[in-house]
Amino acid sequence: MDSCKVAVIGATGAVGRVFLQIAEERNFPIEQIRLCASERSVGKKLNFRGQDIEVELCTPALLDEVDFSFISATGDVSREIAPLSAKHGTVAIDDSSAFRMTDTVPLVVPEVNADDLNNHKGIVAIPNCSTTPLVMVLKPLSRQAKIKRVVVDTFQSVTGTGSAALEEMKTQSSEVLEGKNPKAKEYPHQIAFNVLPHIEPFQENGYTNEEMKMLNETQKILHDSEVMVSATCVRVPVAVSHSEAIHIEFDKPIDPNTVRSILGEQPGIRIVDDPFSNVYPMPIEAAGSDEVLVGRIRRDISNPNGIALWVVCDNLRKGAALNAIQIAEEMMRRDLVAQSSWR
Ligand SMILES: NC(=O)c1ccc[n+]([C@@H]2O[C@H](COP(=O)([O-])OP(=O)(O)OC[C@H]3O[C@@H](n4cnc5c(N)ncnc54)[C@H](OP(=O)(O)O)[C@@H]3O)[C@@H](O)[C@H]2O)c1
Repeated sequence: MDSCKVAVIGATGAVGRVFLQIAEERNFPIEQIRLCASERSVGKKLNFRGQDIEVELCTPALLDEVDFSFISATGDVSREIAPLSAKHGTVAIDDSSAFRMTDTVPLVVPEVNADDLNNHKGIVAIPNCSTTPLVMVLKPLSRQAKIKRVVVDTFQSVTGTGSAALEEMKTQSSEVLEGKNPKAKEYPHQIAFNVLPHIEPFQENGYTNEEMKMLNETQKILHDSEVMVSATCVRVPVAVSHSEAIHIEFDKPIDPNTVRSILGEQPGIRIVDDPFSNVYPMPIEAAGSDEVLVGRIRRDISNPNGIALWVVCDNLRKGAALNAIQIAEEMMRRDLVAQSSWR
């Protein structure tokens, strides 16, 4: 398949807009594009390759006309549109968490588990934007030694919540600087000049849904139900890019230089690691980049089989839109798009 027709559902959102930018940058071979959002946005125009395209509602008739539906709206929208899309012979690539843990839905980072695409049934999910950089680091290292346990603390940007949260952080920042008392709507507390150890609702076990996603999705993507992940997910007042402090325990010692050279050879990863010259990954550097930046690679002094590192990734690009486009590219290369290939 050399070119495709696509619908972008949630085109006006934080991920949707970045999707359009990346599709242009990569020359993703789109022969026809339909842009969809909620009723609020119908009639608005978005620019794609120099053309203003009107936003419309997603309908079954529209799904009939495209090869891919890229869904980056809400979980409820995904639950409605993704099965409908598959029913209409259109592959749904879904950014939400709605289908990630469904057995028949591959959860894919192409650099890690592209072969899982071969068994799709019309819906493919992308992982949570914090899981993606984590598995990109874990997978190549797992070939060197078995990974027993991972402790990860995330520092997640506000665009991980969507465009409204970014606006709220900007407004609150101005209000705080003007000496006013800002109101919080997107989060339970003010995010400007603050840090919230709380992303998504808490569960009985004391972890949040976001933290449990990092465990469950990692196990599914790595096909390893034994690897344990203990996450603390934290929202920070950063516009774009999620950072992660990762501690990995292997079944035997690994030298930090070996880690550096394994990860340095991985597509999609860039080593940024010269701490004595103040060189390490930072959100302002990762934002707008397609690569996962890895640095601060060192032996974990608390564990003879441990490695500690610091990873930063643009949550809107590799954490969402870029991963979705790479999945589509891989499916086109493997001839997995026509309905006859998956029905
Ligand atoms: N942000 C990230 O870093 C990230 C990373 C990975 C996955 N995701 C997932 O990607 C999805 C979108 O996230 P986002 O950050 O782009 O959110 P966002 O900025 O809030 O955008 C939401 C989009 O969904 C559209 N929408 C809302 N209700 C709709 C409906 N009933 N029908 C059709 N479209 C509707 C909105 O359209 P209107 O403009 O008309 O309201 C908007 O285009 C979420 O499922 C999120 O979990 C996000």
